[in-house]
Amino acid sequence: MEIIIKNQTKDIAIEVAKHIIEIVEQNPKSVLGLATGSTPLDIYRNISKLASVLKVSFANVTTFNLDEYLGPVAVEQSYRYFMHENFFKFLDVDLINTKFPNEELLEKYDDEIDKAGGIDIQLLGIGSNGHIAFNEPFTPFDSKTHIVKLDDKTRNDNARFFSNIDEVPTHAITMGISTIMKAKEIILVILGDSKVSALKQLLCLEPDESFPASVLSKHPNIKVYTTMDLFKKAFC
Ligand code: PGA
Repeated sequence: MEIIIKNQTKDIAIEVAKHIIEIVEQNPKSVLGLATGSTPLDIYRNISKLASVLKVSFANVTTFNLDEYLGPVAVEQSYRYFMHENFFKFLDVDLINTKFPNEELLEKYDDEIDKAGGIDIQLLGIGSNGHIAFNEPFTPFDSKTHIVKLDDKTRNDNARFFSNIDEVPTHAITMGISTIMKAKEIILVILGDSKVSALKQLLCLEPDESFPASVLSKHPNIKVYTTMDLFKKAFC
């Protein structure tokens, strides 16, 4: 696990965006694994800017998002909507090639990823409880795409996107941990004081299902980006 420490959040966003642009330049049919949440927003902004300035086309790129809410949720709260508003609408990506897990695809999502050639690069954030995608603590490391009941901590963390906690869905569908681990390359970005404890556990713990992100240390090609400020607080 390579840890890359930058002084500022914006330096991380630029470096990761440049890397993803290079991947798409080299292989216009790249398969990208994408995340929602606050963490990747600046990365998406920088990719969109670079794609436009450097004229890099995403027309033949396929994307697989990590997760999606289940149950009654306003369209504007769906992760497909989030991705469209924050990323896809700024690119020439073909929306048919932007995939999200859903109940219909449940059994097939992992196969769809395999059929597309596997994920070339997976972007990840981390939950304050160590979740990756919506794989909450004690999710088996060999899990595939599945339905989850969200942790109270996750629902509280995500309540900032809703008008109140009762509107936050109780369930979601998520790539499993083994699905994520099959990506050829993983970029995990850890930002913000609410993630100090998660970063500390990632740096200090042996892989254990009680802390899902700990599995990532077993991946052969993973970079973890964080800021100096956060790294100093989490150092063990
Ligand atoms: P965040 O969420 O980027 O909004 O902090 C990350 C996550 O919960 O995986």
